[in-house]
Amino acid sequence: MTIKTLKSTSIVILLWVACHINAKPSSALIPYHLKEILSNLSVQEKIELVTGVGYEQSPQGMTGYTTSIERFGVPHMALLDGPQGIRIDWSKKDLNYSIRPTAFPTATALASSWDKKLVFKVGEAIGKEARHINADIILGPGINLQRNLLGGRNFEYYSEDPILTGRIGASMVMGIQSVGVGATLKHFVANNSETNRAALDIVVDEKTLRELYLRGFKIAVQDGQPRAIMTAYNLLNGVHTSQDRRLITQILKKEWGFEGIVMTDWMSGTDAAQQISAGVNLIMPGSSDDRSSIKKSLQSGRLRMEQLDQSVEEVLRSAINPLPTLHSYKLLNKEKLLKNNRSLARVAAANGMVLLRNKGKTLPLKSNIREIAFFGNGSYHSLISGLGSGRVCSTYRVNIIEGASNFGYGQSKLLEEIMRNYLPKSNPHSVCDYGGGFGRDPELIDERDISEKEIGLIERQSDAAIITIRRLPGEGKDLSEEDHFEVSQTELSLVRSVSDIYRNKKKPVIVILNVPAPIETESWADHADAILVSWLGGQEMGNAVFDILTGKQNPSGHLTASWPKKYSDLQSASGFPGIGTSEKLIPIFGGGDMAKPTKIEYLEQDSVGYRDILQSQKSVAYPFGFGMHYTEFELSNMYIKQRPHNVEVLMTITNIGEVSGADVIQVYSVNSDKGDVTFRELKGFRKTDILSPNQSADVTVTIPYRELEIFNNDNDCGWMLEKGTYLFFAAHSSQHIMSSGMIKLKGYPSCEKNG
Ligand code: GLC
Repeated sequence: MTIKTLKSTSIVILLWVACHINAKPSSALIPYHLKEILSNLSVQEKIELVTGVGYEQSPQGMTGYTTSIERFGVPHMALLDGPQGIRIDWSKKDLNYSIRPTAFPTATALASSWDKKLVFKVGEAIGKEARHINADIILGPGINLQRNLLGGRNFEYYSEDPILTGRIGASMVMGIQSVGVGATLKHFVANNSETNRAALDIVVDEKTLRELYLRGFKIAVQDGQPRAIMTAYNLLNGVHTSQDRRLITQILKKEWGFEGIVMTDWMSGTDAAQQISAGVNLIMPGSSDDRSSIKKSLQSGRLRMEQLDQSVEEVLRSAINPLPTLHSYKLLNKEKLLKNNRSLARVAAANGMVLLRNKGKTLPLKSNIREIAFFGNGSYHSLISGLGSGRVCSTYRVNIIEGASNFGYGQSKLLEEIMRNYLPKSNPHSVCDYGGGFGRDPELIDERDISEKEIGLIERQSDAAIITIRRLPGEGKDLSEEDHFEVSQTELSLVRSVSDIYRNKKKPVIVILNVPAPIETESWADHADAILVSWLGGQEMGNAVFDILTGKQNPSGHLTASWPKKYSDLQSASGFPGIGTSEKLIPIFGGGDMAKPTKIEYLEQDSVGYRDILQSQKSVAYPFGFGMHYTEFELSNMYIKQRPHNVEVLMTITNIGEVSGADVIQVYSVNSDKGDVTFRELKGFRKTDILSPNQSADVTVTIPYRELEIFNNDNDCGWMLEKGTYLFFAAHSSQHIMSSGMIKLKGYPSCEKNG
């Protein structure tokens, strides 16, 4: 046996022992070991390591699976959707999963809590369920910016603001990874619409790309240290993101210092060899075509072996180097875990709900209200998530009507009979019957017209009315202004008729918005006494709605996107969902409406959401950051401290109302030396603990200088902190400023090597 063979054999034995005594191979071993493995792999093995095994070979239920190299102790990695919980279809009889997943609230609902600790806990809970079915990496969270409210996957994303997106995304990553499961930030980058997503070219200038669309990823990568990143389907300035070396290797890996693995989205891109040379580590789900294309490119020299080796080495490093937290979580008794997760799903849903209107303190519901009339299909078939790869097949869902009965409320028998006769017969508790998440929702039918005569009869049987308006989004398809943003004539007349009749009898009318994104409210909001946004709130949503309506929980959610009065108020509205005509329709995973656009130009640059609203002084239905409470909070003693790496904004928050509650403090900032002081941007936030009446808390919002930097195309470093007089505003929304302060900063050209 040659020395070389003897050495590599001994390395292998050492590693085999390490892996099998459940100890992480010693880190000292790994670099040396990687080179050893690499030098002993065949070309075919290297190609297989950078391409998933494919749908057919993935173990049932897993979304993706990678190749193992047994002789070197390189394990498979099992990849599993998604951002709202683990996507396994336990209803398939031939799959005997040990666990049935929990459907947590969708991303927008979670982010609307503005509560990083809560988001961490949800990530941790999803990670624990993933551990029970031996998944190694969760394909989530999705952290693309909500550029336009018709974006089809906005429900799977957090906000129109990059700082909020990055911080919430980092919390989710740290939560998932706290139990040894990897998280995947997706979809890198600029997946802000779904129409023709696999062929759509996003044209955006560098400054906007950096400061708006990449910034959330940069924060989540540097703060969360995710195991993986998934590139997007779309092109960016003419190059498929999965084939873009500047994006993946230069910005993500070199500038930001990302050390995890980069995978493609499923069946995305057009050139496997170019994906590897761009810096992709895993082409998913992987196919024989991908493998033969890489092989041919090696033979032709279009792909160099050292490029493949680089990618292989990074995959190996991930595969054989589990997260240190893997051994920190011992699998809980699954019944106990699922019970804990169900109550967490309820808490998370309630904390993300946003109270938009509460005329005359209609809410919490008064004690004399016992019988409620439930109008709207969504009261009976409530939407707990959207369609697509993120849909969780939970064992049940609590509809709004059931939430009411769980709190002892009766309902109008007449209306219940009308709706039961009208609604499709489906198992209202199963969310598995939609073709694995992409099917059509059999429950989605038009609202029933209800006559004023019927409403009059119903009113006599009830003390209050609840009207649920719902909207169902889905991956692969954008929302439409008419069907999603506008309210239908039936919905409009329902709200107006119910309001006229119930108000006449001094009975309250509450509207629940079971929606993924802003809808038009100007035409009807005055007819409602209260409006609560439940979002798509996961399997416990019905209970959480009544936690809020009864006052068991004080609402504390705040909007993470602006609600415009008209869709056309958005600068991005005119060019959405894109221009041009695609000759070739690229059929993509997940179906969807393959409309024509091939390009979408982000001409509005940074005028997105509240930035646009503030700069253009437009009025808005409900501003970014807005949310009402059942109590009032007062801010005092605000002052600012300058620290070596950050600015601290300190203040005292006092609950001056009559009930306990938590407040969301937002800090916006602008460099007033640059002129336009209306262009304040969110730079930090804190959710307080629950404060009792008259209780105060000292709050510090810490703002790293990194968050104050601008991207300067001229400067050879890019990111820099400009000298100036910085104003800081402590606020309850982008338009409700409570206090302000200022400091002078001398600034620096950051030249931060990690971007
Ligand atoms: C889908 C989605 C992605 C998902 C993947 C695997 O097309 O874009 O979010 O994780 O494929 O299902």
